[in-house]
Formats: sequence, C-alpha cells, structure tokens
Amino acid sequence: MWERLAKAAMNYTRPFGRPPKSRAGMRRFMDPRGRLKGVRLDGARVLGLAAGGGWDPVIFAKLGAETTVFDISPTQLQTVRHLAARQRVKLRLVRGNMKDLSVFKDASFDVVWHCHSLVFIDDAVRVLKEVGRVLAPGGTYLLSTMHPTTLRLYGTYKDGGWRPKISYFTDKPVPYVSEWDMTWTLGNKKLVAPTIEFGHRFETIVNGMVAGGMVVDGIWEFSPGPPEPDAEPGSEAHLDLLFPAFIEVRGKKPVPGAFAADRRPAARPAVAAKGTSRRRAR
Ligand SMILES: C[S@@+](CC[C@H](N)C(=O)[O-])C[C@H]1O[C@@H](n2cnc3c(N)ncnc32)[C@H](O)[C@@H]1O
Repeated sequence: MWERLAKAAMNYTRPFGRPPKSRAGMRRFMDPRGRLKGVRLDGARVLGLAAGGGWDPVIFAKLGAETTVFDISPTQLQTVRHLAARQRVKLRLVRGNMKDLSVFKDASFDVVWHCHSLVFIDDAVRVLKEVGRVLAPGGTYLLSTMHPTTLRLYGTYKDGGWRPKISYFTDKPVPYVSEWDMTWTLGNKKLVAPTIEFGHRFETIVNGMVAGGMVVDGIWEFSPGPPEPDAEPGSEAHLDLLFPAFIEVRGKKPVPGAFAADRRPAARPAVAAKGTSRRRAR
C-alpha cells in the first residue's frame, strides 16, 4: 500500500513545505511541539524509523546527526535519497520491516524518531522492544501515531452520533466501513489504499516501551489545528474537535544506576530480637 501511495505522491510520501535555514527554524519545522527540546542532535546517532518520504531525516542530517533511515518501501527510501542528494547531506538508507531491527546492533542510536507508522503494525510490543534494544542508555525515543479511540470512530457518524467500529479492547485491524473510509485525498487527487491499521492502546504502548527497557517521560494527545468550530457533523474536522487525532509518547532509556533504588545497597534481612515473634504477613 505504501508503494501505491508513494508512486501516486500522496501525503507523507513527498517532502512538503520548505524548512527555514536557521538551526532553530529547522528544529521547529521538524518538531513543532518541541518534544526533542534539549536533546543534542549535533553528532548524535539518529534512527528515522519508517521515516521515508519526507524531510525529517534530511533535517536531522543538516543538524549534524549521523542519520539512518529505515523503511519498508523502496519508493519512500528513494524519495529521501534524492532529497538528501539535492540538499548535499549524507544518510544511511536501510530497507526492512520495523518488526525486525536485527540489522542494527544493541545501543546503536541516541535518538529514535518514529512518526505515524506504528499504526501499520500488528505486533506493537515487538517493535517497541526492538526500539528499546537499539536505543543507547540516555537515548530518547519519540513516537507519534493515531489516537486509539479516535481511529475506531472515523467514518461512523450516523443519526447524530459516533459509534466505534470495534471495541477499545479489540486488538484487531480497524475495519473500513465504506470506500470513502479507505480513500486518501490530496487536493483533487483521490486514491483507494486500504492500509491495514491498528489502534494500539495506551496500555500496549506504555507497557511495550517498559518491556523495551525505557521509561515514559511524556504523553500528549492532540488534533492537527486549527480547530474548525463550524465543521460539518460527521467530518474528520468535526471528530477532531471531540477527540484527539494523534498521540505522542516519549521514552528515555535510563543510564545504569539512574534510579535511586538502583544505587541503594541491597537491604539486609532484619534480625528478629530474641524472644519476639511476628505474625506472618499475608
Ligand atoms: C505515514 S508514513 C510516515 C512517513 C514519514 N515518517 C513522515 O512522517 O512523513 C508511514 C511510513 O511507514 C512505512 N512503513 C509502513 N509499514 C512499515 C513496516 N512494517 N516497516 C517499516 N516501515 C513501514 C511506510 O513505507 C511509510 O514510509
């Protein structure tokens, strides 16, 4: 599906807009909500996970990062290769499925940047564990993906209400309810591309990151603005007013001994005073 979308030059498959020239401007362009604020990029090893087709990897490289782009779609990678050549920056491009990052050694990246693609994965925990493995201690992971509640609602407005296509607790792909639902639009262009999409729950994401050895240090829910108060009932803009379209979750891989509990010496068993007895705790 991503080959189909990329060949038709739909959203997320072309470097849209033009980043400013200043370092601060480039950072704002790539990371408008400042989720990587304070994270050093110059000299950092950055993995753009499923980051083909757009500006982000090229901007990381312009900011001095040693940048690798990993994506399943050859056309998405080709688009970044051409952009990098035009912008005179070097990137490493790797094709593969993000469920298997075995091509990368443990702790080989300081930043993993993962925009809008976990939704295409059935086994999110497997990906998150792989991310945790390749992230170096002290490293930062930034994930953005579809909001799990809102994804279940698109295209379902009827008789004044929205109704989920599947329950929040069902971890299956979210079904399509109409051709409109699986049609991507860009200006006048329309393309039917039924990508298989999963609305991974917060519980899955947070626990998956923890299983990957990360701590979660930020969660955000948002709709792409600006809000349209007069949006037509049933439209995406209307749903965006009621529920957030996207989530962002940031993780850090702690350096060994980062937590006070790690530094405390192991507690010695208390020695009971002679002649006393204690009830066993249940
Ligand atoms: C919405 S686009 C994101 C593109 C770019 N990161 C951006 O933000 O503009 C999703 C990307 O995920 C890639 N992708 C989808 N499934 C993948 C998988 N299983 N492994 C690796 N990449 C995948 C697609 O080829 C596509 O480039």
